[in-house]
Amino acid sequence: MSIIVTGGAGYIGSHAVLALKRQNKDVIIIDSLQTGHQQAVDDDTTFYQGDLRDSAFLDTVFSSHDVEAVIHFAADSLVGESVKDPLKYYDNNVGGAISLLQAMNRHEVKKIVFSSTAAIYGEPQSQYIDENDQAVPTNPYGETKLAIEKILKWAENAYGIRWIALRYFNVAGADIEGKKGEDHRPETHLIPIVLQVALNQRDEITVFGSDYKTPDGTCIRDYIHVTDLVDAHLLSLEKLSDEAKSDVYNLGNGKGFSVMEVIETARKVTGQKIPARMAPRREGDPAYLVASSAKATRQLKWSPNYTSLETIIESAWNWYVNHPNGYTTHK
Ligand code: UFG
Repeated sequence: MSIIVTGGAGYIGSHAVLALKRQNKDVIIIDSLQTGHQQAVDDDTTFYQGDLRDSAFLDTVFSSHDVEAVIHFAADSLVGESVKDPLKYYDNNVGGAISLLQAMNRHEVKKIVFSSTAAIYGEPQSQYIDENDQAVPTNPYGETKLAIEKILKWAENAYGIRWIALRYFNVAGADIEGKKGEDHRPETHLIPIVLQVALNQRDEITVFGSDYKTPDGTCIRDYIHVTDLVDAHLLSLEKLSDEAKSDVYNLGNGKGFSVMEVIETARKVTGQKIPARMAPRREGDPAYLVASSAKATRQLKWSPNYTSLETIIESAWNWYVNHPNGYTTHK
């Protein structure tokens, strides 16, 4: 039996493929390569390049394999871009998910783990956000992920497709053995940008806002190591195999670090100066976003291994040093 990983050539998807293969699972990647990288796909992995909205393409994939379950990562995921071009996000994210679920239904595949986001919560209502907090997204990206969670609920009701949606906080770091890493074009995330400054690929890091009501005035986020994050997907697959009920889980470390703390830690890890410049706030950034992942710990038996910010940044740095131009260079 095979597991389909959509978006398996992307940052989180490629780490999930690695983890599944380390468990000797048979993996099939579907990726359009719109943002994923061919070089992130190992030669020994079955790979189909195509768009999830193409149902004939999906029929070819599903009918060529005995598919047990799907892990669905493929999506557009830039908050700012989603505000500028919301229809792109509804079309690709919601349209892609509907087409995928229809294919699963046609081919009688009944289990899916879905990549959701903390962006569905919008402005946080509590210090440690839990799954019962109100879901009021403040951008189209979060709206599309929330819409898909709702679609999953009704797809289960009508077609018996069981699901687990995992709401990610700030995913960071790279495979500890250095086999995969993070390569976004354009890069917008804090840790990769800070490390690009350390590599002299950028002059400085711009700090978006230093007047927040936080101890040092900069935004606080919950950084979770990508390998810990993908572990929760494997546990979710196991849980779905045990006939557990469909559900949503937050995935974070439960610890917050400010933008300045991230920069300071990166200076320590890399030994570089990393000049920082204070700038106005970025639109739509909440001051403080930290997860309660107690439910995942309790019910999925999930326990993250790489919780220190230093380890997270070190693992990312290790990959960048060996891949200074991302997946386009192999040193
Ligand atoms: N930041 C800077 N300078 C930069 C980049 C980021 O100061 O050049 C700051 C941001 O303002 C924010 C923090 O660093 O305070 C983290 O920003 P990221 O862009 O790395 O991550 P976000 O918290 O904005 O977003 C992440 C994911 C989203 C997801 C969200 C959920 O990228 O996909 O978490 O909380 F929706």
